[in-house]
Amino acid sequence: GADVAAHPVEVGQGGEWHQTDADAPRMTTAQGTPVSDDQNTLTGGERGPALMEDFHFREKIFHFDHERIPERVVHARGYGAHGYFECTDAIPELTSASLFQEAGKRVPAFVRFSTVAGNKGSFDLARDVRGFAVKMYTEDGNWDLVGNNIPVFFIQDAMKFPDLIHSVKEAPDRAFPQAQSAHDNFWDFISLMPESMNMVLWIMSDRAIPRSFRFMEGFGVHTFRLVNAEGKSHYVKFHWKPKQGLQSVVWDEAVKINGADPDFHRRDLWDAIRTGDFPEWELGMQIFDDAFADKFDFDVLDSTKLIPEEDLPIRVVGRLVLDRTVDNFFAETEQVAFCTQNIVPGIDFTNDPLLQGRNFSYLDTQTKRLGGPNFTHIPINAPKCPFHHFQQDGHMAMHNPTGRANYEPNSWSQGGPRPDPRAGFKTHPEDMSGAKRRLRPESFADHYSQARQFYLSQTPVEQDHIVNGFGFELSKCVAPDIRNRVLSHLRVIDEGLATKVAEALGHDLPEAATPARAPVDLKVSDKLSILKNAP
Ligand code: HEM
Repeated sequence: GADVAAHPVEVGQGGEWHQTDADAPRMTTAQGTPVSDDQNTLTGGERGPALMEDFHFREKIFHFDHERIPERVVHARGYGAHGYFECTDAIPELTSASLFQEAGKRVPAFVRFSTVAGNKGSFDLARDVRGFAVKMYTEDGNWDLVGNNIPVFFIQDAMKFPDLIHSVKEAPDRAFPQAQSAHDNFWDFISLMPESMNMVLWIMSDRAIPRSFRFMEGFGVHTFRLVNAEGKSHYVKFHWKPKQGLQSVVWDEAVKINGADPDFHRRDLWDAIRTGDFPEWELGMQIFDDAFADKFDFDVLDSTKLIPEEDLPIRVVGRLVLDRTVDNFFAETEQVAFCTQNIVPGIDFTNDPLLQGRNFSYLDTQTKRLGGPNFTHIPINAPKCPFHHFQQDGHMAMHNPTGRANYEPNSWSQGGPRPDPRAGFKTHPEDMSGAKRRLRPESFADHYSQARQFYLSQTPVEQDHIVNGFGFELSKCVAPDIRNRVLSHLRVIDEGLATKVAEALGHDLPEAATPARAPVDLKVSDKLSILKNAP
């Protein structure tokens, strides 16, 4: 209910109304000096100039002037909530990660959902990928699973990320569009980047306009590793499955909602949690080894591919519950810093070139966005387990080494933290060989087969939505060459799809693109993902 107290009112010198409340905390400056008047500047004489001496005025305005920090370079618009992760099926035989050792064990979690392309103030129901970033505060440090609501990605190599994002965001001259939508630059880039075709199909599908954050899946996308106490490693793909089911809106609804309530998704999450309807996801894993990986035509290190659940069922090992809204949006949701390299013993990376690039990018951008190297001192980013190291100083340092030793090794009896060779993080000793090169392997070369598999696995209604998505987007694209190039790729994916989109555009079909590697017909099933859109 509304929390408005009826306090007595006093009229101030300038005629403004003050609520008087004997129990309220005393207002002070940031230095703690009690404030007597927060509305009238100190002036020289009755109608005279403002005096520089007015430290309260200067502090108040100065602080206001510095309120903004840079928005995230991508995923600027997001919404976060607190909760917990609970292990429901212990897997010590697969990983030594502390959070998976015992069924029933819980760790605190913070989740931030986001759109990718739009600015911080853009609307919630853009046709776009949704970020699904989870920070789990384990007893061995923070584990961030920085995922999306779509299991594949546009590009295979992080080197291309700046180009992808430049093409998706507003054009440098006209500064539109502000959120991903019909856009020549985007379609120009995509049509020159056949590896994006699988993801483009997902983006034109209902997945890109979810009904709310609560009805989305989440995916770690990359292949990661699980490593057990003996050092044995398995590959793993991470999945979040919403207990609420999977639901999307149709495009006409999205357009209407964006106009009527651009905050639709954040309001939905806030209201659900505040009314005790806590959203919940299962954490599932697809676990496999090299022998299984070698059976596929594609490479499990290629982020533009998924492993169909029919080929490799998901093992559910835990659940994520969001049960608490933030106290302060800026302190928590805006300042939270997720990073793929925040990992814990028992989990490790693979050589996926997109993942390796991300590991550099997040820390780098956050050092700028959050004003220096000490953003791990901000409570939302700090581990909730004990932590000790010799990092020191820098802007806003809150935790410096105590005592005399700030280096290692040292021989002082109270010499501070020491590494733990037994239980500390150990990189899996994967073999490395070969000459340095800038050439993707042949196993990354098939860009069309999974796009076709995805399209054919959709229900007829969902397929129509994909056709309509392409029809709408490409009709806004003014350059005929770009439209033709997209159609030439669609012909390789599925002639029926290409024909329907060409009809929607009133276009003739161009020649089909020539793939670097001919697509193969993969098994078509409705189990690409276990969840289907509710009717
Ligand atoms: C932010 C996911 C690829 C760079 C994010 C966020 C998510 C995400 C969920 C928002 C984090 C938050 O809520 O604070 C993904 C996924 C990717 C991917 C699933 C591919 C599988 C990349 C790549 C790069 C990159 C290839 C760069 C090489 C960034 C940056 C941010 C970001 C710079 C902003 C971080 C910040 O300012 O805090 N990404 N991303 N991402 N991502 Fe990615």
